[in-house]
Amino acid sequence: MNIIIASNAHEVALKAYELFKTQLNHKPNSVLGLATGSSPILLYQELILGVKNQELSFKEVHTFNLDEYVGMDAHHPQSYAFFMKKQLFDHVDIDVKHTHIPCGLAVDLNKECERYNHALKNHTIDMQLLGIGSNGHIGFNEPHTSFDSVTHVVKLKESTRQDNAVFFSSLDEVPTHAISMGIHNILEAKKIVLLAIGKKKAAAIKAMVHGPIDEVCPGSILQTHPDVTLILDTEAASHL
Ligand code: F6R
Repeated sequence: MNIIIASNAHEVALKAYELFKTQLNHKPNSVLGLATGSSPILLYQELILGVKNQELSFKEVHTFNLDEYVGMDAHHPQSYAFFMKKQLFDHVDIDVKHTHIPCGLAVDLNKECERYNHALKNHTIDMQLLGIGSNGHIGFNEPHTSFDSVTHVVKLKESTRQDNAVFFSSLDEVPTHAISMGIHNILEAKKIVLLAIGKKKAAAIKAMVHGPIDEVCPGSILQTHPDVTLILDTEAASHL
């Protein structure tokens, strides 16, 4: 694993920006795997600026998001579809038809997972952006998820619901289930860039980097991937 330690969250975003800029300039029709949550927000702001300054373009880019809450339509302000529009897609030159997010409102959720897997099979991800949960999850693949998993319906751990409650007005409003790309899907990306900010992530980062490769810490499987870059602030790196 290539580990970059940056002094603060803004530096994390700038270092990640450089990787995405290089990727898009090298291959303008890249397929990007994207994440939601707090970790990528500053990076998305840098990407928006980059497009404005004509340093890069999303015109030919296709994107696949990692996950979506079950039961939320794309207009719900806490849905990941809404998040992506607000944080990135509405402000860059991407063709919305090229953006893919699992549909959390599908009547048949298993069919929706199959549809998403099929779409992923037809688009190899060139660069996958990840955050990490304080329990080591990647995507919404919680501890003990099989490393062979593909897109599936996930029951969120209470710790994850509590972590995400900051985005809702109460814990009760946080959905109990999500659709997530599986760990196998994530590992198929050619390159992986994982961002982590803050002390709350330090233990998960240590387990991911130095711990055994074990489904107890889903992120630990990244030790087996040939091209992973972790970009951490000093607090997230403090247990390494
Ligand atoms: C988001 C995702 C999650 C988050 C993780 C960290 O699409 O799949 O794995 O990356 O929960 O979330 P933040 O960045 O909010 O700490």
